[in-house]
Amino acid sequence: MSFDAKLASILEQRKKQSLFRCPYTLEGPQDSIIAINAKQFINFCSNNYLGLANDPRLKQAAIEAVKNFGTGTASSRLICGTTTLHKQLEESIAKFKHSQQALVFNSGYVANLGIISSLMGKDGIIFSDRLNHASIVDAILLSRAQLARYNHNNLEHLEELLKKHKQFKQKLIVTDTVFSMDGDTANLVGIVELAKKYDCLLMIDEAHATGVFGANGAGLAEELGVLDKIDIQMATLSKALGSFGAFVSGSKNLIDYLINVSRPLIYTTSLPPATLAASLRALEIIKNEPERRKKLWDNIKFFKENLKSIGLDCPKSNSAIIPILTKENKITMEFSQKLFNRGIFIQGIRPPTVPEGSARLRLTITATHTQSDLEQCLEAIKISAKELGLV
Ligand SMILES: Cc1ncc(COP(=O)(O)O)c(C=O)c1O
Repeated sequence: MSFDAKLASILEQRKKQSLFRCPYTLEGPQDSIIAINAKQFINFCSNNYLGLANDPRLKQAAIEAVKNFGTGTASSRLICGTTTLHKQLEESIAKFKHSQQALVFNSGYVANLGIISSLMGKDGIIFSDRLNHASIVDAILLSRAQLARYNHNNLEHLEELLKKHKQFKQKLIVTDTVFSMDGDTANLVGIVELAKKYDCLLMIDEAHATGVFGANGAGLAEELGVLDKIDIQMATLSKALGSFGAFVSGSKNLIDYLINVSRPLIYTTSLPPATLAASLRALEIIKNEPERRKKLWDNIKFFKENLKSIGLDCPKSNSAIIPILTKENKITMEFSQKLFNRGIFIQGIRPPTVPEGSARLRLTITATHTQSDLEQCLEAIKISAKELGLV
């Protein structure tokens, strides 16, 4: 069989299992209303929680940065790819996260690879929640440290593993604070206590919590009052901040160490000026406009209360991410298609993104959804679920 025929056969198999993936093409900006195939859809699957991805102020900041700094940096951070925009953004992030210092990475995926693979090695052990993001899973593989996977949000299991592996000198607990496909939150206060008790480093991934949780939008650690108990904070600039890239914040020594040894930071061209300037503007907006966060939470509350009455299987979520568990791949994609036909865009999520047998629709609520958007979505879910015999 030729190489191409082999690929075609693998893809055919995926189609039979309802696992074939093919992205839709957006014909305009990322927002609560999007255009696909010259038609408008209400978008319920982006991570644009505060609606900043198409904000005129971020766009203007990006335009100004292009005028002043050009389009690309043409160099890695350590050669000649660090601009005043990188430094300003890192200073703003450090203040925002109440850390000594911060360091920008090119994406959340790259940040997790860059942090974990630099701090941990084959003599170490990493305690990782079973539902942590794929980038953390891949980072652990890259680090060559031993993996101790604890059952999702199960602190008894975590403690059992911590006791069992006490002898390791190098230990790290890592957790998402908001789980990206389930929308529930980590029991961070309990994890902080265990990290202290068993003398472990603690790293959190606040990708879906930054801009959403906390009095200043700094994330779940801020909301729970444990910011100063976290050794390594990571988050993205690509979700609530509406821009692109990611960062780590922590002690000055942590940042200097990563600058010196983190290969995913060192061996790649640095982020371009436009995205840095947009992120800087987004941080200011998050600080000055708490009403956006309030609107987001009002929308989440309204949506969840009304979704409950439809009677679908919705595991407990306490963030802007809401899963509707459909389990089977085929029915998940049919549900998604029916909603699409009704002008509602919600992607189906299938393995390996979620465990086998737990396919789902993953909805995300944003601050820019109107009451009418939310009501239209609920109505479309209700009718489509009835047609599929799910309720
Ligand atoms: C929890 C979590 N961490 C990291 C990432 C990766 O971030 P990025 O999209 O910036 O690569 C994502 C999502 O993409 C995520 O959900």
